[in-house]
Amino acid sequence: MKYFTLNNGLEIPAVGFGSVLESDVANFEEVYENAWSTGYRLFDTAASYGNQIALGKWLKNSDHARKEYFLTGKVAQSEQGYEETLSAFQKTLTELQTDYLDLYLIHWPKEKPFFETWKALEHLYDEGLVRAIGLSNFEANHLDRLLTKAKIMPAVDQLETHPYFSNHVTHDYLEKLGIQHQAWSPLGHGGQELTDSVIKSLAEKYDKSTGQIILRWLYQKGVATIPKSTNTNRQKQNINLFDWALTPRDEQLIDLLQRGERVMGAPDENYSADRW
Ligand SMILES: NC(=O)c1ccc[n+]([C@@H]2O[C@H](COP(=O)([O-])OP(=O)(O)OC[C@H]3O[C@@H](n4cnc5c(N)ncnc54)[C@H](OP(=O)(O)O)[C@@H]3O)[C@@H](O)[C@H]2O)c1
Repeated sequence: MKYFTLNNGLEIPAVGFGSVLESDVANFEEVYENAWSTGYRLFDTAASYGNQIALGKWLKNSDHARKEYFLTGKVAQSEQGYEETLSAFQKTLTELQTDYLDLYLIHWPKEKPFFETWKALEHLYDEGLVRAIGLSNFEANHLDRLLTKAKIMPAVDQLETHPYFSNHVTHDYLEKLGIQHQAWSPLGHGGQELTDSVIKSLAEKYDKSTGQIILRWLYQKGVATIPKSTNTNRQKQNINLFDWALTPRDEQLIDLLQRGERVMGAPDENYSADRW
């Protein structure tokens, strides 16, 4: 595994496991354990995913040492606000059966209370209950507002990012601020990019899968990723990215696929509902 170093010195795995599983996946413990055996050590969850209890149960039963893995949690829309966030965090710890998180994020930039929510995250960080704090789905306009009052610079911004929606403008802004970009739905939620003709021709050229081409492209851009797969072979592929490289020209061919096509609504389209 390779790591990126966050602005507070904490190392974050370059590839983590997107742990949301479809509700009909009965063998979740087996899926998580396969991911572990493959080498994943970061598990990405959120209060709104409904999988914290399952993940916590697996971690407890598996007996993996707590310092061996990295847990990311997110405060949901309905939990935002100072006191609300502190109690949501405690609930998350209880469900995950742990006494700290590695990374805690504001899931979406809900208009009104995000300063209060951020203050709560700063408090949790100061108390040593979380090793890094950050954001998800915050674009430049949200960041600018947050930074007028934030005491601690966010360490991570988790954003929708894949070839058809490269989020390059926010990426450049995050780079300037020293905030680590982490991609959600890096494979376009299993969509068209995996069969795109440019990606397919690169997959043939490098003798890799289309998923690997996309994930390697993101890694070369300095973007951390959290692909999800319930399939052991695909889990393996998605982490085998570090002993080969795309040429700068091939990287550019993927850059050119950008067409502003999201798999989910924009952050400002819905401030109130709990979003995935
Ligand atoms: N912060 C946010 O607002 C937010 C929003 C959405 C998601 N997320 C996070 O991002 C994680 C991943 O997102 P996601 O599940 O939407 O999308 P994704 O990781 O982009 O794609 C997952 C889909 O791609 C398939 N797949 C995985 N690896 C593959 C490969 N190598 N080749 C071909 N197909 C492959 C999977 O099917 P199989 O399982 O059959 O392999 C699944 O259908 C989530 O689990 C969650 O943790 C965060």
